[in-house]
Amino acid sequence: MSYLRLQLPRIPSHFQTEFKQARPRLRASPMEAGGVDSQGRAFASSSEMWREEVGEAGDGSKKEEWYRQGVGYWEAVEASVDGVLGGYGHVNDADIKGSEAFLKQLLAERFPGGGRRQLKEEQLVALDCGAGVGRITKNLLIRYFNEVDLLEPVSHFLDAARDSLSSETFPSENKATNFFCTPLQEFSPDVGRYNVIWVQWCIGHLADDDFIAFFKRAKVGLKPGGIFVLKENIARNGFVLDKEDRSVTRSDLYFKDLFNQCGLHLYRVKEQRGLPEELFAVNMYALTPDVPKRRGARTRSRPNTPGIIK
Ligand SMILES: C[S@@+](CC[C@H](N)C(=O)[O-])C[C@H]1O[C@@H](n2cnc3c(N)ncnc32)[C@H](O)[C@@H]1O
Repeated sequence: MSYLRLQLPRIPSHFQTEFKQARPRLRASPMEAGGVDSQGRAFASSSEMWREEVGEAGDGSKKEEWYRQGVGYWEAVEASVDGVLGGYGHVNDADIKGSEAFLKQLLAERFPGGGRRQLKEEQLVALDCGAGVGRITKNLLIRYFNEVDLLEPVSHFLDAARDSLSSETFPSENKATNFFCTPLQEFSPDVGRYNVIWVQWCIGHLADDDFIAFFKRAKVGLKPGGIFVLKENIARNGFVLDKEDRSVTRSDLYFKDLFNQCGLHLYRVKEQRGLPEELFAVNMYALTPDVPKRRGARTRSRPNTPGIIK
C-alpha cells in the first residue's frame, strides 16, 4: 500500500461502524476532528495523533524518526512511474490531463502571454516538489515553463528524473535546471524565482507545523502573481494516518484550516475526475499569498443613484 491508496486501507470491516460511534461531535477546529490510522485505530483529534507520531514540540528525535521512516519507505521503491504511484501507474494520463486543464487556466489568468516562446526577462519558472522520478515535470511542467526545478529527498528517484529529463533524451527549448535532493521541511527557495510551485502527492509526509512553516517560507520564492498548486488526496473526515509510509491524508476542511494558518488564500479548487473508485478523492488547490480579486467583480458604479436633473 502506498500514497495513492484505498480510501480505508487495511481497516477491518467492523471498524467502520466502530469509527462512526467513536467519531467526536462537531468541534471548534476541523484539525481537531477525529481520524483513523491504517491499522484501524481511532484518534479523538489530530493533536492526539501528532503527539504520538512526532512527539511534543521540541522533541526533535521523534520527529526525525517520522521523516526518516517516510523517506525510508520510498527508498525501497523502484524508481519508475508505477513505483511512485504505488502500482497505479495507469492513472498517470488522467492525472496529467486534469492537471493540464487546471494549469492552463491559471497561467492564462495569472500570466497572460506566458508560454513557450518567452523573452529572456519573461521566463516562466516552476518548482516541482516531492517530484519523485520527474513524472509531472516530464509530462506537464516542462511543456509550459522555460525552466523547472525539481525537489525530491530520495536520491535514486532524483537520479532517474535527471536521466529522463537530460537534454539528450528530452530535447526541448525548455529545461529542468536544478535538482534539489532535500525534503520540503528543510527547503527554502530563492527569492522571487517561481511563477508556480507545484506540490503533488507529497505534503502528507509533513507534520502540520512543518506544513505551515514550509508554505510560509516558500511564499518568498514566488514572483509577483505567483501561485502554489497543491494536488492531494482528500479524506472524507478528519484524517487517515498511513503507518506504513508515514503520511497523513487530510480532509478538505483540515487543509483549509492549514491554508489559513499559512496566510494563503484559496484562488481556485477543482476535483480531479477519472481516477479509480477505490482511491481517495483528489483535489487541486490554487493558493495565493495575496487576497485574490473576486472573479467577475465589477468596478463599483452607482447606476441607480438618483441624480439632480438640471
Ligand atoms: C506518491 S510519490 C509522488 C511523486 C510525484 N509527486 C508524482 O506525483 O509523481 C511521493 C513522493 O514524496 C516524496 N517525499 C517523501 N517525503 C518527503 C518530504 N519530507 N519532502 C518532500 N518529498 C517527500 C517521496 O520520496 C516521493 O517521491
